[in-house]
Formats: sequence, C-alpha cells, structure tokens
Amino acid sequence: MEQGRALRVHRQEQGTEARIEAWSAPDPGPGELRIRAQWSGLNYKDALAVTGKGKILRQFPLTAGIDVSGVVEASRAEGFFEGDPVLVTGYGLSETRDGGLATSVTLPADRVVRLPEGLSLREAMAYGTAGFTAGLAMSRLLDNGQDPELGPVAVTGATGGVGSYAIAILSQLGYDVHAVSRKASAADYLRGLGASEIIAPDDLAIGDRPLESGRYGGVIDNVGGDLLSRLVRSVVEYGNVASIGLAGGVKLDLTVLPLILRGVSMVGIHSVECPMSRRLDVWDHLASDWKPAVMNTIVTREIGLDEVPAACADMMAGSQTGRTVVRLGD
Ligand SMILES: NC(=O)c1ccc[n+]([C@@H]2O[C@H](COP(=O)([O-])OP(=O)(O)OC[C@H]3O[C@@H](n4cnc5c(N)ncnc54)[C@H](OP(=O)(O)O)[C@@H]3O)[C@@H](O)[C@H]2O)c1
Repeated sequence: MEQGRALRVHRQEQGTEARIEAWSAPDPGPGELRIRAQWSGLNYKDALAVTGKGKILRQFPLTAGIDVSGVVEASRAEGFFEGDPVLVTGYGLSETRDGGLATSVTLPADRVVRLPEGLSLREAMAYGTAGFTAGLAMSRLLDNGQDPELGPVAVTGATGGVGSYAIAILSQLGYDVHAVSRKASAADYLRGLGASEIIAPDDLAIGDRPLESGRYGGVIDNVGGDLLSRLVRSVVEYGNVASIGLAGGVKLDLTVLPLILRGVSMVGIHSVECPMSRRLDVWDHLASDWKPAVMNTIVTREIGLDEVPAACADMMAGSQTGRTVVRLGD
C-alpha cells in the first residue's frame, strides 16, 4: 500500500498541535474495513479540534476529521467488498478513533454507511456531518408533526454548514424559512437557498416575558444561549424546536411555560451516535427527495489537506459562509 498522509492532532505540554504527517491506516481486523478516502468536509467541531480551541479529542494522537467518504480498499467484514463506495459521519471519529482527514482510515463496518444511490462521494461530503445533522433535525421535526401550516421556521447560524442545509431542505419541502444570521452581506446567498426573510439576531424583536406572541412554527437552532432562549418563547402551539449547536453559548434562560401552555417540543439533535436505522433513513432522504437543487451553492470552497488548518482558523473566526469540502483522493 502506498504511503499516505493524515492531519494528526498531538497533545503538547500546553494545548494541542495539528500537523500533516506521513500516515497509513492499519490493516483491518475482524469486522473492520480500510477505506481509501476521497473526500471529507469541515465542520465547526473540526475547527475546534484542529485549532485546539475546543476539547474534542479524548485520546492522543489521533487523526482529525469527523467525516469521510471513499472506497473500500480492504475488508474483513461480511457484506463489504473492495471497491464499495461508503461514507461515515460521527461515531467517535476524531474523538476516540482516527478520523477522516487522511488518505485512508480503518473502521468497524457497523459504523459505515453504504453510499446511497443518487449521491456521489463528493456530494456525500458536501453534506457531511453538517448536512446529515440538518437532515436529522428535519426528521425529528417531522416525527413531531411539523407542518408548513404551523408557520415559518426560523434557522439560526444560518450561513453555517448546518444552517445552510437546514434552510435548503426546509425550503425544498415547502416551508417558509426565516434565516437568522449575523452576516448582512450574506443576504443574497441565504435567499438563494430559499429563505424568505433574513433577520439579524439583534433585530429579532422578542421580549423577555416567559411567553411572547407566537411567531414561528418551528426553530432549527445552531447557536444556543440567549438567541435560542428568545426564540423558544415565540414558537406557536405545538411547534417544535431542534437544538443542534452552541456557537453562541450553552446556557438557556427559559421557563416551562412554552412547553406546558403551548405544547412546544424541544428535541435534541445528537448526530454522533444517531442509531443506524434512523441514520440510513436520513441518508436515503438526503439522496432523493430532500436533496437540494442548490447543493453547489452551499459548497463555497474546495481545498486540499494542506489547506485545512488555515480553513479551520477562518471557521473559528465565524467568517465563513457555507461548506468547505476537502479533496483527499486522486
Ligand atoms: N448536535 C450535533 O450533533 C451537531 C452536529 C453538527 C454541528 N453541531 C453544532 O452546530 C453548530 C453549527 O455547526 P456548523 O458545522 O454548521 O458550523 P459553522 O459552519 O461554523 O456555522 C456556525 C454558524 O453559527 C454562527 N455563529 C458562529 N459563531 C457564532 C457566535 N459566536 N455567536 C453566534 N453565532 C455564531 C454563524 O452563522 P451566522 O454568521 O450566519 O449567524 C456561523 O456560520 C455548531 O455549534 C456545531 O458544534 C452539532
């Protein structure tokens, strides 16, 4: 096997250091596959891990990258054969096991999703964890009876990877989408994804009362903190709130009143350990009826492995719009 490369994160006396090194994934053990990686994508969590600004890795050293798509290169798992196209998101990549920012990765086969028909390997990582997470939020809102008739759905952190896909999927499914974004300059981008209104978080005129007037049929939130606390108070009866992210804070200032006087549901989104049956169902939708026509608009950047550390720094600065895909293969 050819010598490959990986972005490896090491523990230092103070903090961590990420560097590109010669690296080949080990031969697969029983029940495992080695994947020749073709694409990965950058997520907020990758930016935290690579810049060392967040504690993502739970052991050292590890290869960074919480998702990857590629082709099976060697298999010791039933039902997987050399040449099969596959994708992986979450499941401990770059936390407790080597991740996807490498030219090869060895993983247990029960963590691996076969590439669904209707998606290319590049599209799988154009979605990546961000697209999968937006899809998972959609799936949980639909389980809870979300319907366009309930009213507009607010999406926060709108220009990020998850936010962009949430807007595009909701819009594709006929929802009126209000994008909540700090970036006034991204208004055309957000309208292009299907948002009918773009609002700055500071312009959301929602007060501090436990219940404010009902305005949103639902919320897909990537920011947390004060913004999410305000939005929950303005969700209509039997609307739903999907809590995904913490880019703006982890604390909520809420009462139970939206839940018990309006029947509002808050659903948590945990993409890492999402059970395989739901995972497969979400990927099937992402490859077919939820696949946005605007996918190419959402991928704003394609880079190689060497450019990942700088791109992660941009991401931490919050200056990025859309998704960055990382080319790992030929
Ligand atoms: N629960 C899960 O399973 C799961 C899975 C994936 C991601 N996440 C979380 O979801 C969030 C979004 O992930 P992503 O990959 O889409 O990240 P991303 O591409 O970096 O997007 C994050 C967006 O949040 C907004 N933002 C960034 N910093 C902020 C701050 N300090 N205050 C308020 N808003 C801020 C920005 O949008 P605007 O400039 O448009 O406001 C930014 O584009 C992250 O918190 C991530 O950890 C959770």
